[in-house]
Amino acid sequence: MTIPKSTASILFVADVIGKPGYDILAAYLPSLKKKYAVDLCIVNGENGEKGKGTTENLVKKYRTLGVDVITGGNHSWTFASFRRYLDQSNWVLRPANYPDEAPGKGAAVFQSASGLAIGVLNLQGRAFMYPIDCPFKRGMEEIDRLLTQTKIIIVDVHAEATAEKMALGWHFDGKASAVIGTHTHVQTADERILPKGTAYISDAGMTGPNDSVIGLEVDVAIKRFISGIPEFYQMATSNNRLNGVVITVDGATGRAQNIERINLP
Ligand SMILES: [Fe+2]
Ligand SMILES: [Fe+2]
Repeated sequence: MTIPKSTASILFVADVIGKPGYDILAAYLPSLKKKYAVDLCIVNGENGEKGKGTTENLVKKYRTLGVDVITGGNHSWTFASFRRYLDQSNWVLRPANYPDEAPGKGAAVFQSASGLAIGVLNLQGRAFMYPIDCPFKRGMEEIDRLLTQTKIIIVDVHAEATAEKMALGWHFDGKASAVIGTHTHVQTADERILPKGTAYISDAGMTGPNDSVIGLEVDVAIKRFISGIPEFYQMATSNNRLNGVVITVDGATGRAQNIERINLP
């Protein structure tokens, strides 16, 4: 029988972009897991397949690398086959505040090999995004449901507006262990522990090509802005970095003890 540890170490890896992102994740994950004695590794995988969307095959590859949970966002819906897979997978979440008619689930409790129960919730913002259900109300309902099973709860808030993410951080302070922003693909330097014990960062960043415009080939991005025409998406490939955060949580109280930004190499 495994004796549960009292402290949870959670590695959250920001939006992984296509093969460049996968490769740098593969290069760094073993050493990161060892260095931080990681109990649970969460990866936002909405951009895993050539920059837009995720596939079942890719989820299996992430799992083989040692990823425990794959969260999503607005690109979770790119592939029809993946929508069907969302209903079957135990490891993949999509934002919980999509209407009930959407496939998949947005929250679950995962058991770490070290004996900890860790809740993960995926939400999506509404400012400058699809007008889905309220992330504040739906998020709190999901957190209350997870709290009946564990005090350790990690929230991926996939949103465009910093203010919306920050407001969600404060709204969940003392209830969630961490509120981690994703979607903008630019790591912010505002990581902190809020007064009631919730670790917060507005955006964990991006794992993939940094010589890009948030993952998109620079020339294509400039053309899009100058012409106003939605040029075909072309993923960039160079200057790869791994972004994310490591959060340590007191397992007895669910309060975060530390949040550290990761930006490698
Ligand atoms: Fe993304
Ligand atoms: Fe996104």
